[in-house]
Amino acid sequence: MTVREEIKQLKREKNAIILAHYYVSPEVQELADYIGDSFYLSKIAAETDAEVIVFCGVSFMGESAKVLSPGKTVLMPDAGADCAMAHMADPETIEKMRDEYDDLAVVCYINSTAELKRYSDVCVTSANAVKIVRALPNRNIFFIPDRNLARFAASQVPEKHFIFNEGFCPVHEKMKAEEVRRAKEMHPAAEVLAHPECTRELLELTDYIGSTSGIISYAEKSGAKEFIVCTENGVRYELEKRCPDKKFYFPETEPVCRDMKLITPEKILHVLKTGENAVRMEAEICEASRKPLERMLELAR
Ligand code: 13P
Ligand code: SF4
Repeated sequence: MTVREEIKQLKREKNAIILAHYYVSPEVQELADYIGDSFYLSKIAAETDAEVIVFCGVSFMGESAKVLSPGKTVLMPDAGADCAMAHMADPETIEKMRDEYDDLAVVCYINSTAELKRYSDVCVTSANAVKIVRALPNRNIFFIPDRNLARFAASQVPEKHFIFNEGFCPVHEKMKAEEVRRAKEMHPAAEVLAHPECTRELLELTDYIGSTSGIISYAEKSGAKEFIVCTENGVRYELEKRCPDKKFYFPETEPVCRDMKLITPEKILHVLKTGENAVRMEAEICEASRKPLERMLELAR
């Protein structure tokens, strides 16, 4: 039996589904039952009837799936796959901000540890941050951990007062506006599509800013034939699948999230066989971080 066939058989036996983020490698995306951005995958995790979820992504995604579906087994093909930004905020600063500002909402990007989520009022993803911040009754918004998504949301919701935190995604922050300018010179007809984790300077050069799903559906609907894509290169697989007649270029600094690329078909097979790397969380953290995640699902509806 091939690895693919073995995975298929084990999925049936164990009533398991495979969720994969657009950033994992094409051979892993091919094995997935659901591929999507963080928001879509969190909804699937919350709603599925499967008993086992194999989450092909980084640890905050597995944690969120476990928090939203505590009765299910959530298996991580590589337990070491983590998101650097998920740790770039701290509870002490959150508490300080709560003392300093009344009417404060702590808005937590889902790319964060469950430990950070438990101190927050609501979670957001890049697909719904603007909508959710706009819907909050609070005027003061402390947005953690990502300063770039926070700045983008602030530009879209000028009626709110934002307090920024200095977290960032190393993969998106590495792409420079200068590279995009050069790519535009080489491909003048191309539209520039970017993830809001990119720097403000880069975002100023774009035609569209959105989550990975947003970028993919924009490219699909656009009349343009060429695109400069400013996000992790895993999205190329779905972009080319949906738009075979269009061309996609990436900035010179190849945007690769090494943690996402740790997931392989062999590791998926291994955790399905052994049950290793099941997400385990302290009950108290699990309970407390569920509230902001559920509030996100509610406000995004
Ligand atoms: P999405 O919200 O588009 O899934 O992005 C997640 C992420 O990790 C971006 O770096
Ligand atoms: Fe985290 Fe950046 Fe990787 Fe996304 S691309 S998972 S934000 S390190």
